[in-house]
Amino acid sequence: MSDDDADDGAGSESDAGVSSSGAAAVPVGVKLGSTRTVIALPGEHGTENRIIKTLTCMATYEDALTGEEKVLYGEEAAREYPDRVEYMLRSGLPEDADRAEMTKTFFEAIIEENDIPANSGVVYAIPTIDNPTGLENLQNVIENSSIGLDLVESYPESLCGSIPAFGDDLEAIDEIFVAVNMGSTNLEASAYRRGEQLSPFTTGAVTGNEVDRMIANYVEEETQGRVNIDNQTAREYKEEHADFVDFEPFTDIIQQPGGGSHEFTIERSVMDALDEYLDDAVDELANTFLPELANDYMKVYQLALDRPIAITGGMACIPGIVEEFEERLSAELNRDIDVIAADEPDIAPTIGAQRIAARLVDTN
Ligand SMILES: Nc1ncnc2c1ncn2[C@@H]1O[C@H](COP(=O)(O)OP(=O)(O)OP(=O)(O)O)[C@@H](O)[C@H]1O
Ligand SMILES: [Mg+2]
Repeated sequence: MSDDDADDGAGSESDAGVSSSGAAAVPVGVKLGSTRTVIALPGEHGTENRIIKTLTCMATYEDALTGEEKVLYGEEAAREYPDRVEYMLRSGLPEDADRAEMTKTFFEAIIEENDIPANSGVVYAIPTIDNPTGLENLQNVIENSSIGLDLVESYPESLCGSIPAFGDDLEAIDEIFVAVNMGSTNLEASAYRRGEQLSPFTTGAVTGNEVDRMIANYVEEETQGRVNIDNQTAREYKEEHADFVDFEPFTDIIQQPGGGSHEFTIERSVMDALDEYLDDAVDELANTFLPELANDYMKVYQLALDRPIAITGGMACIPGIVEEFEERLSAELNRDIDVIAADEPDIAPTIGAQRIAARLVDTN
C-alpha cells in the first residue's frame, strides 16, 4: 500500500510512454565511458534523478561455496582484484569480441544490482571516434542489453553533455554552437546545428590519460627520482588536487620496499601537466578544428563563435578550467569567446541523454 497508491487516481491521464504492459516506460540515460560509467534515471515518485557512477572495470571470481562464477565491478573490483581487474573500454570502445562480451557482463551486473527497469526508454551518449569496429561492438552491447524495451537511441556524447550546460531542459537542441568533450582517451569537438553534428573532430593526443602520464613523470622529476607513482595514483592526484584558481601543494607518503616510508610534497607536477594540456587543447581547437569548421560551414562557424562554447567531460570538472579555457582561447583567436559548462561536467552527458530519453518516451 505504500508503493503505488498514487497511480490510479485522476490527474495525468495521458498514456504517454505507456508500454504494452500498461506501466509507463522509465527514461534512462547511459554513458559507458572508458574511465567511468554513468547512468541516470528518475528517483522514486518523481523525485530528483538517481545517478549511478562507477569505474568501468570488472573482475570475476569463483564463489568459494558453489564454484559459480561471480562478477565484481567498479571501485570494489579495482580495489580487491588489482591483479586481474579489466578496464574493457580502456581505449574508449570495446576493441574486440572479448571486450564486447566483458562490457555486456559488466553492464548487466550494474543493471541487476541497481534494479534498472527493463521497461525503459534508454538513450546512450556515444563517443565520436573514428573506429567502426569499436562502434559496432558498442552498438552490439547496447542492442543486446536487457533494458530499453520501449526504446533505444544514441546521441553524441558532446551534444548530450552540452544539454545541461545550456539550460534546465533541452535548449541546446535548438541552438547552433560548438561543443568540446574533454575525456580520458579523446578530445572531441563538434559544431551542432539544431542537434545535427557538423565537422566532428577528435584527437587522441590531448587527453586526461596523457595528463596522468605527464603527472607521473613530473612527480619523478620534482622528487629527484625518489618517488615513482603509477598512472592510477597520478589520476587521483589530478582529480583531488588540480585547481586553476587555488591549487595548494600537497604531501603524500610512500612505503619504501625495505621498510620505512618517505614523505614528499608536490608543488608543480600536477598543474604543470594541466597547463600543457589546456594549451594543447586550445591549440587543437583554434588551429585545427575551427579552421575545418570554417571551411566546411562558414556561416555556422560565425554563428557558433558568437554563442557560448560548451565544454563537457571529466576534465572539465577541474575548478577554474572554464575561465582559464575562455581566456586562452580568446587570446588565441583574438576575439571574446564565451565558454560554459554544466555544474557536473563528468555526469553531464548522462544527464543530457536522460533528458532526451524523457522527451522521447513522452512522445513515443
Ligand atoms: N573531478 C575531476 N577533476 C579532474 N579530472 C577529472 C575529474 N573527474 C574526472 N576527471 C578526469 O576526466 C577524465 C574522464 O572523463 P570522461 O568521464 O568524460 O571520459 P570518458 O568518457 O571515460 O573518456 P573518453 O570519452 O575520452 O574515452 C579522466 O581523465 C578523469 O581523471
Ligand atoms: Mg567520453
